[in-house]
Amino acid sequence: PEPGWSVDTDVVVVGSGIAGLTTALHLSRQSSLRVLVVTKDVLAAGSTRWAQGGIAAALDAGDSADEHFTDTVVAGAGVCDEAAVRVLVREGAAAVRELAQMGTRFDRGADGRLSLTREGGHHRDRIAHAGGDATGAEIERALVTRVLDATGVQVIEHALLLDLTTDVDGAVTGLTLHVMGEGQRDGVGAVHARAVVLATGGFGQVYASTTNPSVSTGDGVAAALRAGAVVRDLEFVQFHPTVAYLGPRSSGQQPLVSEAVRGEGAFLVDGAGERFMTGQHPLADLAPRDVVAKAILRRMRETGADHLWLDARHFGVEKWRVRFPTIHSTLVSLGIDPVHDLIPVVPACHYASGGVRTDLTGEASLRNLFVCGESACTGVHGANRLASNSLLEGLVFGHRIADTLVARLGEPADPRPRPPHAPAVGGLLDGGARVPLQQLMSAQVGVLRDEVGLRAATAGLDDLVARDGGAPGTEAWETTNLLTVSAALVQAALERRETRGAHWRDDHPDRDDERWRGHLDTELGRDGV
Ligand code: SIN
Repeated sequence: PEPGWSVDTDVVVVGSGIAGLTTALHLSRQSSLRVLVVTKDVLAAGSTRWAQGGIAAALDAGDSADEHFTDTVVAGAGVCDEAAVRVLVREGAAAVRELAQMGTRFDRGADGRLSLTREGGHHRDRIAHAGGDATGAEIERALVTRVLDATGVQVIEHALLLDLTTDVDGAVTGLTLHVMGEGQRDGVGAVHARAVVLATGGFGQVYASTTNPSVSTGDGVAAALRAGAVVRDLEFVQFHPTVAYLGPRSSGQQPLVSEAVRGEGAFLVDGAGERFMTGQHPLADLAPRDVVAKAILRRMRETGADHLWLDARHFGVEKWRVRFPTIHSTLVSLGIDPVHDLIPVVPACHYASGGVRTDLTGEASLRNLFVCGESACTGVHGANRLASNSLLEGLVFGHRIADTLVARLGEPADPRPRPPHAPAVGGLLDGGARVPLQQLMSAQVGVLRDEVGLRAATAGLDDLVARDGGAPGTEAWETTNLLTVSAALVQAALERRETRGAHWRDDHPDRDDERWRGHLDTELGRDGV
């Protein structure tokens, strides 16, 4: 649809989780650039506020950036970009301390030092947390408070990104968006900007069962693909080993049972009460996430079970209430008392390790397009993100993007209206295609993949494309984005004929460093759905 209104700004940031808000805040602190934050729901609604375990950094005197580096690249199974990981681990600790100075109330011991815990793949206690298991919610609270006070930062809520606009050379000049109920800025509008920062989070809603909130529909990745940007590592979708199992037909966002619960001593058992992670990996129940998710799936297949169990009864009620209040109350509301009961658990889609390819400044393959957080692929996660490195990535690279933009854009430019040039969209899907798409992706492109299933997924997605003709609206736009991302993901998953990190090909069960060590890039061109 044609934009009915337009605004002009220096930088438009799309998304309001840790990545978007960090970028906006640093721009505001360091410059007088005009910053506009647009977000699909209300400011606090994204994935960040759902993060439980915490944020990882070498914060303890006995820890080091080098050790954090090693754990990150080992989890990343040969695909991490080491320069990017070095940036992450070296700049991480200072960035977390700054987050505390900006008002995040991390949990601390009696001596005032940060309480640190451990999660899968870490050899040290290096996960800072807040409110026990409400780390993301506390970080988001602190950042939202700051952004609302920041000079030079405007916010538009209920604003869904539609497409990026580019000039004839392919440089990004702004975006189109659909806003609901914001007075004069209602309906489809255009933002003209000197730079766009996508911080739209992940695309967990591609699957029927995910830890991601309903807003995680890959809008930024899809828009970047349509504009011609290169995406990378899309096949490496991480499945979290433990979400509470709510029955075979449960779909949508599922209750996460943080890895920090295992970090504090909980362990997995099968239906016969047997521990099965011991002996599978030196870190047993705290092995990297892909190892644990695969072991759970294998044991489920061997025993014909549709879920397994987590045992944390020995925590006792006090520890559950103080250390994991969110998970405890969620479980109790589901009728599970973790002090007396085993917790039924199953893996679910959790995190997109890939996304829009960026360099170390956060810039994508299109000039003036920056991407931060889960929607980016900086190369820090490789084939399997290390637990609690994601909040850290948003924080560290949000800083870097702000630094780059301050240097590049300098002082505010005169507002110069530019005609938007939106890429042609190949047709809108009907919102009714969303559930069949999610079921198809979960059935054929989940933890366990093979060529037959992936080809079936391609054919199924083609069938859905044939059902285009949806009327413009949030459901249709989001479902179209899910399809765009799914098509790129399946393409990458088909191409990578090996098993590595979060990508498990049953028909190519071994890791093949000769042929497949490295990234897969995908481009859809400007017209692709
Ligand atoms: C968790 O708390 O288990 C999630 C942490 C993460 O995904 O990094």
